[in-house]
Amino acid sequence: SSSATPSLAPSAHTLRRSYGSESTPERKVAVLGAAGGIGQPLSLLMKLNPLVSRLSLYDIAGTPELRPMSATSTPVTGYASEEQLGLALEGSDVVIIPAGVPRKPGMTRDDLFNINAGIVKSLCTAIAKFCPHAIVNMISNPVNSTVPIAAEVFKKAGTYDEKKLFGVTTLDVLRAKTFYAGKAGSIPAATNVPVVGGHAGITILPLFSQATPASNLSTEDITALTKRTQDGGTEVVEAKAGKGSATLSMAYAGAIFADACLKGLNGVPDIVECSFVQSSVTELPFFASKVRLGKNGVEEVLGLGPLSDYEKEGLENLKPELRASIEKGIKFAREN
Ligand code: NAI
Repeated sequence: SSSATPSLAPSAHTLRRSYGSESTPERKVAVLGAAGGIGQPLSLLMKLNPLVSRLSLYDIAGTPELRPMSATSTPVTGYASEEQLGLALEGSDVVIIPAGVPRKPGMTRDDLFNINAGIVKSLCTAIAKFCPHAIVNMISNPVNSTVPIAAEVFKKAGTYDEKKLFGVTTLDVLRAKTFYAGKAGSIPAATNVPVVGGHAGITILPLFSQATPASNLSTEDITALTKRTQDGGTEVVEAKAGKGSATLSMAYAGAIFADACLKGLNGVPDIVECSFVQSSVTELPFFASKVRLGKNGVEEVLGLGPLSDYEKEGLENLKPELRASIEKGIKFAREN
């Protein structure tokens, strides 16, 4: 087929467009929390992604502002009430979740738990029902707990596939790269820094010893860069002084990660991103590290590689907090 006419067929697996010999499969992406500070720009970026053939926007606050986006080739549909959540999700290949409250100054991500845990639980219950095979990109904080909550909900529904559940930690990677490049004098876009562990405070562990291009930064510089990466989100929360947390940079990070998931689904080789996933890299059941993405989601969870003594110490220091956050999520999902 060489037709560029958008198809309204619900099938996510038929071929829609072809460019020469190259065909792009139909992919439906749903954004839950699409009217929010992250959701709006993230939806816009997904709308512009040529790998997305249908975009479904859901928010209990409604998505009227986003609706005119359907006036071009990628059909966009907005859904605003819980009765429509099934329609929003049906046939989705990737579901991105930025629904929930953001931090205000003085709050930790864990302070969001009481509100966001319930939101994530109800959205994941609907995912299990309406698109059980979709890849889930969890943005809602505290990611260290919301990912385990999602896993428990899916397990209870009998739909859990550990290869398809991702906590989005891409913003930590973007921050680490940017701060490192500034110090090392490298070009940010050509810089790489793996970030492992979790997505809150000291659980965020950038591995500057593995940064490329390599540089000979002092211990003081590495300590300062690590702290700045860990506190990057809080820096934004304080600068916004009550108006929320990172939105544009998170939308950008979320779009990069979702694009990587879509490329993996479509069979593009060697797609590697850091993400918080079910893991046996450490003794913790969930852990962020480099992950190779493929046609079924996670193709391979990559190991940590050689760590500096400073990173080894950081790794041991983060484990109790990360374990507690994971257990808190599991407990919530089991008891509610
Ligand atoms: P926001 O308050 O601007 O937007 C949240 C949206 O979610 C609102 O439009 C709200 O109506 C919607 N919502 C609430 N309950 C819902 C439900 N049950 N179903 C559908 N939609 C619902 O918040 P913002 O700034 O967009 O942040 C969203 C989340 O992302 C927060 O939890 C924040 O902590 C997290 N975040 C995560 C980052 C990461 O690196 N993973 C970085 C920055 C923020």
